[in-house]
Parts: sequence; C-alpha cells; structure tokens
Amino acid sequence: MNTHALLQKYNVPGPRYTSYPTVPYWEEDKFQLNDWKKAVKKAFDISNQKEGISLYLHLPFCERLCTYCGCNTRITVNHAVEDPYIEALLAEWDLYLDLLGEKPRLRELHLGGGTPTFFQPENLQKLLTGILDKVEICEDANFSFEAHPHNTSPEHLQTLYALGFRRLSLGIQDFDAEVQMAINRLQSFEEVQEITLLARKIGYTSVNFDLIYGLPKQSEKTIKDTFEKVNTLRPDRIAFYSYAHVPWLRPAQKSFEMYLPEDSMKRYFYELGKSLLEQAGYLEIGMDHFALPKEALSKAYQEGSMHRNFMGYTTTSTKLLIGLGTSSIGDAWTAMGQNYKSVEGYTKAIKQGKFPIYRGHALSQEDLILRQHILNLMCRFETNWQEPDTQLPAIYEALEKLTEMEQDGLLEILPYQLKVKEQGRAYIRNICMAFDARMLSKQPKTMIFSKTV
Ligand SMILES: C[S@@+](CC[C@H](N)C(=O)[O-])C[C@H]1O[C@@H](n2cnc3c(N)ncnc32)[C@H](O)[C@@H]1O
Ligand code: SF4
Repeated sequence: MNTHALLQKYNVPGPRYTSYPTVPYWEEDKFQLNDWKKAVKKAFDISNQKEGISLYLHLPFCERLCTYCGCNTRITVNHAVEDPYIEALLAEWDLYLDLLGEKPRLRELHLGGGTPTFFQPENLQKLLTGILDKVEICEDANFSFEAHPHNTSPEHLQTLYALGFRRLSLGIQDFDAEVQMAINRLQSFEEVQEITLLARKIGYTSVNFDLIYGLPKQSEKTIKDTFEKVNTLRPDRIAFYSYAHVPWLRPAQKSFEMYLPEDSMKRYFYELGKSLLEQAGYLEIGMDHFALPKEALSKAYQEGSMHRNFMGYTTTSTKLLIGLGTSSIGDAWTAMGQNYKSVEGYTKAIKQGKFPIYRGHALSQEDLILRQHILNLMCRFETNWQEPDTQLPAIYEALEKLTEMEQDGLLEILPYQLKVKEQGRAYIRNICMAFDARMLSKQPKTMIFSKTV
C-alpha cells in the first residue's frame, strides 16, 4: 500500500501516549487526593534508595504567544509574577517533603513550560537552591531545561550550569522567516547559533533542538533550508514533532489554518526531514526523535532502556515523578495526578496549605499491564507477552484489531510478540491505540486528540 493510501486510512485523531491511561480517560470521579498521597509515598519508599526520583517544574509564563503553541502557558510581560510563583512552588515542594518523610534522592530534574528562561537568572537560582538544598543529588543525575532562544541569556546558561544542568532543549520549530511570521515566533539563526555555541563552551553535554513539521507555510524548500541550518550546528538530539492542530483547545491556531499543508504533504515533510537527518548521521529513536549515535538517549534506545513519561523520552526510568507548578502531572506508577491549570487556582490551593492536585487516576491491574506494552511499543517498537504476568485478554483483542495493519505491511505478529516494521513506525500511535482498552471502551463524543500523523 502506498503512503497516500496508508495516510487516508490511518491518519485519525489519537493520543501521543506520554501516559497510559491517557488523561481524558482518567477515572476522575473515583479518585481522591488520598489515593494520590498514598501512591506517592508507596512509590517513594520503593524507589528512593534504588533509582531515586524525578522532578518536573512547570514554569508557565511567556512574554508573547506563539500561535501554534499547544502548551499550558500564561502570556504576560509583567515579571512581578516571578516571586509569588516561586514562593508557591517552594511551598508545594514542602508539602511533598512532609509527605515523603525522608530526604529524596534526586535522579532527574526538568524545567518545562511555558518558558523557564522567562524567569530572571537570580530567581531561577533562588527557586532551584530552595529545591536542591533539601535533596541528595544522585551521582548520575540528569538535569535539563527548555530554553527559548529569544530570551536565554549567557547568565541563564551560567547559572543553570552551576546548579548542575547539563542538557538544554531549544525551541526552534523552523528557521524560515515566513513560517516564523505565520506562527508569531521570530528568532534568527544567529541567535540560535550563539546560544548553542555558548552552551557547549560552558560545558553542557547535550543540546536538543525542537522542530515541527506540518506548520503553516512550510514547503519542501523551507524544510531543506531548516535542516541545512540544523546540520551546521549538529545538535546532539532532535525532536521533530508532528504539529498538533487542536483549535478547539487553542483558538489562536485558527489564525493560520488556511496556510496549513495537506496531510500527505505534512507526512512528506517528515519523511524528507528524516532522510536528511539520517544522511547527516542521526538515528531515529522512538516516535519523532533523533539523536547522534553516541548521545545518551541514542545509547539508551539501542540498549532497550529508553523510557517515556510526561516529559517525553528519557534515559532514566524512575517509579516516582513529582510535578510541581500549574498543570503539572505527577506519576507515582500506580496513580497519576494533575495540578490546577490556572495560576490563580494553583496558588489559591497552595495558600490554603493544600496539595493543588485537582484530578487523577488510580491504575487498575489491567492498566498497569497495558501501560507496559504501550511503553514498550513507544520506546522500542516492539512488545511481548511471554511472561504470564504480562498477558491479558485485551492483548488478544488488540491483535485482532491489528491484523489489518499486519496485512498492510506495518507490523509483524509472532507467537507472544509484536514487532513494528520500519514502515509502521509512522503509525505507532495507531498501533498503541489497539492496546488502549480505556479508549476502546468509550469512544470520545467530541474531538480530544490531534491526528496521529
Ligand atoms: C514548552 S514548549 C518550548 C519551550 C519554550 N517556551 C520555547 O518555546 O522555546 C515545548 C515544545 O513543545 C512543542 N510544541 C508546542 N506546541 C506544539 C504543537 N501544537 N504541536 C507540536 N509541538 C508543539 C514545541 O516544539 C516546543 O518547543
Ligand atoms: S512555544 Fe514556548 S514561548 Fe511560545 S507560547 Fe508556547 S511555551 Fe510560550
């Protein structure tokens, strides 16, 4: 079957599987804050002396709205918001420290947003010392942050390096000026070059570029030009995301709808980008991700130890991820919980001395097994159910659904094993959907997910 026909058949709305069950399928009505606290404590007691814990801080502010953006942001030029937000984050951290009862061993720390570099370097220093003073940092800890090239200063890079950060992710999306205008996000190649070179000079060991295919005004030429520029800077990792068009959630995306590429063109841009990256020596690892062969995530992929959580792909697998800040999602393996999304709702709960979790899900035994299969597929493009405790009726139901994809040459079903073929990688979200018993039992009535390709 050719690419066009495959797209016609399989390009349907579907999740990106940074969790299972996916957030719209959480059983919120059955979930109590106490479930979350118990799960956190249990996961902590198991993991603290072993692999340690992960921490995600959501810093939601941005000075200007990029109209394509699907993240949870608060647009403001008023930097007076920094201090009270930092106070709230530190108070939330104290709530967790009381609950954990023992000094956490920190293995992974990620600052996401919004724009973490919206905060002044001295404020990031204040926030992070407040957090780090109360933990023991694991020897092989992995600290990373998202950096907007337009407002990341040498002081930001120095401050965060001194605090232990060694990895940064630069939001680029596309280098073409017209594409940048269409998405209201202007940044020059020179800016990106300056930060990349400076980060390396300071000692950062991994620089990631976020790029997107399927943006308005993209063409074969803009993709080729973008990758030519990317290749001159040789980032260690590249996330080449599929543009998620969700105008019912992000109305600003309507502003450029008439300039969006057709589905088949969008897929062609991915194939083009992928082949340019492979010619330049990058490996495709997981969904939408590439890395130089010697980079840590590449190695983890090749060794089969790569993991995926709400922060995306990671080299570290911990049983407890605590998310601090607005909209952050925590994952305690047997339960997940999300914080209030608005700055006001979040800070109000904190001021009252309450955990700002407003919804969550306690995983059933079936969820736990299906989650492992979905993780295996997303991280290794294969899964197996040889062990009795990995088997479920839902797997055999999934296999029935996948026979058509097998006939279309996208995957191989072997005894107790499923392997995704090279051509099937583009449809990994569809393959995972066959295992998504929660979604299959309750089809959405309204649009909730972007399209899979
Ligand atoms: C929180 S944002 C980036 C951090 C920083 N604020 C910046 O813009 O550079 C994280 C990444 O999510 C991706 N992203 C945001 N909205 C998206 C969308 N609608 N579709 C696909 N990827 C998106 C972008 O690649 C972006 O760099
Ligand atoms: S892409 Fe980054 S800077 Fe732009 S609005 Fe989204 S989070 Fe903010």
